[in-house]
Amino acid sequence: MKILLSGIQPSGILHIGNYLGAIKQWTELQKDFQLFAMIADLHAITVPQKPDELRQNILNTTMLYIAAGIDPQKSTIFIQSHVPAHAELGWILNTMTPLGDLERMTQFKDKKEKQSEVFAGLFNYPVLMAADILLYQTDVVPVGEDQQQHIELTRSLAKRFNNKFGETFKIPEGFIPPQTARIMGLDDPTKKMSKSAASANNYIALLDTPDEIRRKVKIAVTDSGKEIVYDEEEKPAIANLMRIFAAFAGGEPDDIEKQYQGKSYSDFKRDLGELLVEKLTPLQQRYQELSEDPESVMDILRKGADHANKIAQKTLHKAQQKIGFLV
Ligand code: TYM
Repeated sequence: MKILLSGIQPSGILHIGNYLGAIKQWTELQKDFQLFAMIADLHAITVPQKPDELRQNILNTTMLYIAAGIDPQKSTIFIQSHVPAHAELGWILNTMTPLGDLERMTQFKDKKEKQSEVFAGLFNYPVLMAADILLYQTDVVPVGEDQQQHIELTRSLAKRFNNKFGETFKIPEGFIPPQTARIMGLDDPTKKMSKSAASANNYIALLDTPDEIRRKVKIAVTDSGKEIVYDEEEKPAIANLMRIFAAFAGGEPDDIEKQYQGKSYSDFKRDLGELLVEKLTPLQQRYQELSEDPESVMDILRKGADHANKIAQKTLHKAQQKIGFLV
C-alpha cells in the first residue's frame, strides 16, 4: 500500500481552509493509502508559543483529526516531537541544504515579516518538513498550495542525498487538488484564509458555533455586480465562496452557478451558511465527545507514536549508516 504523510501545525484555530486543503483529502485517501497524520509541534515552535496554549492546541488538533474522520484504527495519528528521528534526520539534512534554497522560500519571507525577532528554526523549517516526509518513505503528500515549494525542496534534498550516498529515500509527490488548494480569506479574497489572520472574520473555524458561521458568511466580502457566476479574475470573492460551497456539497463551482441563476448574493450566502452548519455540526459533536474522554485520545497518540517510531527509526538508521555514522 502506498504511503501518505501530512501534518498541521498546532499553532492556532483550525479553519475550513485547513479542512478542505488538507484534512478532508486525508480522510478520503486513507481508504487507499497508509496514512500518517502528524501534529507538527516542532514546526509550531518556530514562532513563539505560550506553553499552556500549545499543549491545548496539540490536543485540540488531534481531536479535530479524529472528529473529522481520520480513523485511528486504519491510520497513524502521531505527534512529531514523540518521534525523535524527525529532529535527528532534520539535522543531517540541514548539513546538506544550500542556504540559497532556504532564502528563496516564500513562506519564510512572509512569516519573517510578521515577527519582531526571527530565529534560526523558522529559516530551517522546510528542512524539518523534508525529514518528516522522507522518514516514512512517503509516496504522496496531500497539502494546500502554500506547501508546494516545501515539497519541491524535499524532493531536491532526497535526490541530492540519494545521488551522494546511494538510494536511501523515496522521492515523494505533492497532491494539491486545485479547487481547494487555496481557500481565500472571507474578509479579503486576495489573501489566503489563515490561522494567524488579524481578524476572526477572515476564517470559519471548524469549531465556530452555528451563529458565528452564519454571521461570518453573511458579512463575507463580495464583488460588484449581483450575479452568481464563477469568475476567478472578475469575481474572486464569490468564486472563493463558490469553491467552498462546491467542496462541502460535492460537485463543481459550475454546478453552483447553474443552481443560483437569477438568485441573489444573499440567497447564496444564506444557503452556504446553512450548508456549513450542517456539515460542521457532526464534526463538532464528535469533537465534544472526544474532549470528554482525553484518556482515549492519549491512547491513540501513544499507539501512533509507537508505530511511527518503528518506521522512522528504520529510515534514520539507514541514512546514518550511509553518511558514515558508527551505528
Ligand atoms: P499549516 O499548519 O500551515 O497548514 C496545514 C494544512 O492546511 C493547508 N492550508 C490551506 N489549504 C487551503 N487553503 C488555505 N487557506 C489553507 N491554509 C492552510 C496547508 O497547505 C497545509 O496542508 N508546514 C506545514 C505542516 C507540516 C507538514 C509536514 C505538511 C509539517 N510537516 C510534512 C506536510 C508534510 C504547515 O505549516 O501547514
